[in-house]
Amino acid sequence: MKILISGSTGLVGSALVDALKSTGHETVRLVRSRPSGTQSGAGLASWDPASGQLDPSSLQGLDAAIHLAGENIAAKRWTPEQKNRIRESRVAGTRLLAEALASLANPPKTLVCSSAVGFYGDRADERLNEDSPPGSGFLADVCRDWEEAAKPAADRRVRVVHLRIGVVLAAHGGALGKMLAPFRLGIAGVIGSGNQYMSWISLDDLVKATIFALSRDTLRGPVNAVAPNPVTNREFTKTLGRVLRRPTVLPMPAFAARLAFGEMADGLLLASTRVEPRRLSENGYRFSFPELEAALRHAVCS
Ligand SMILES: NC(=O)c1ccc[n+]([C@@H]2O[C@H](COP(=O)([O-])OP(=O)(O)OC[C@H]3O[C@@H](n4cnc5c(N)ncnc54)[C@H](OP(=O)(O)O)[C@@H]3O)[C@@H](O)[C@H]2O)c1
Repeated sequence: MKILISGSTGLVGSALVDALKSTGHETVRLVRSRPSGTQSGAGLASWDPASGQLDPSSLQGLDAAIHLAGENIAAKRWTPEQKNRIRESRVAGTRLLAEALASLANPPKTLVCSSAVGFYGDRADERLNEDSPPGSGFLADVCRDWEEAAKPAADRRVRVVHLRIGVVLAAHGGALGKMLAPFRLGIAGVIGSGNQYMSWISLDDLVKATIFALSRDTLRGPVNAVAPNPVTNREFTKTLGRVLRRPTVLPMPAFAARLAFGEMADGLLLASTRVEPRRLSENGYRFSFPELEAALRHAVCS
């Protein structure tokens, strides 16, 4: 298949491009700025989501598109300007791409868009699946509008899948990448009460599940991209400490997390989401890493 990928330079996108290429697919990377010296047409198309620029003619002949682009949500403190960037890069960027795909004489059959388990908000230990209603708060509102922004493509009968992604586990980036240094130094511990649920997925499974979503015509709409065994922050902390053979006895109380990270602490570190991958499981997806300890060992030790 000829597959367009936005956000291809990120943690997920770079692993996905490698996996797609190695299985014989042709990839076209939708990039915000063309690397100097690279010719157009060499598997690249360009766009500028911030100013609403995307030439639909560069998107012809696609079988599918995978849309991962968006301002990193944990890169900077959530000032009003940064929250606006997080939101607009997703909502306006998704609408721009969906409208461009919808305007084509022959749109691709499938559009797989990233979304996040943040859709469900802070829900204590409630078990959440794709039929659960949205939560409230900044991230929940962003995710709802982000998913809604793909509607122009769905209206043109493109099969749109919204992957509601959990915390992606990879040693070289994302949340785990940031946690490794304090854990290795033995200065990490439970955050807040430690009772908040964290829905996670190994990078390997996310790449595999994204390719599964491309090929499985019965999947459309929201699909939770999380492992079947979400854990509390306490379990996560203990398991990572065991994998790294380091103590995890220095807790970070909620007030300290809020002091250090501001509003992001409540949105990302203290919020509880216990999400099940119901649609993936019903459609026969088999996880390579359903259990946290094996996923962490694979991420950290391989
Ligand atoms: N990693 C996780 O734990 C996790 C969890 C839940 C959901 N997700 C979602 O999954 C998607 C991929 O995640 P990721 O971890 O690979 O993200 P990432 O490493 O932050 O990469 C995102 C990519 O988006 C593009 N981008 C960055 N800032 C942008 C902006 N302001 N406007 C438009 N594009 C921008 C960049 O690609 P170019 O420079 O090539 O444009 C970047 O490489 C994201 O939408 C993310 O929100 C990730």
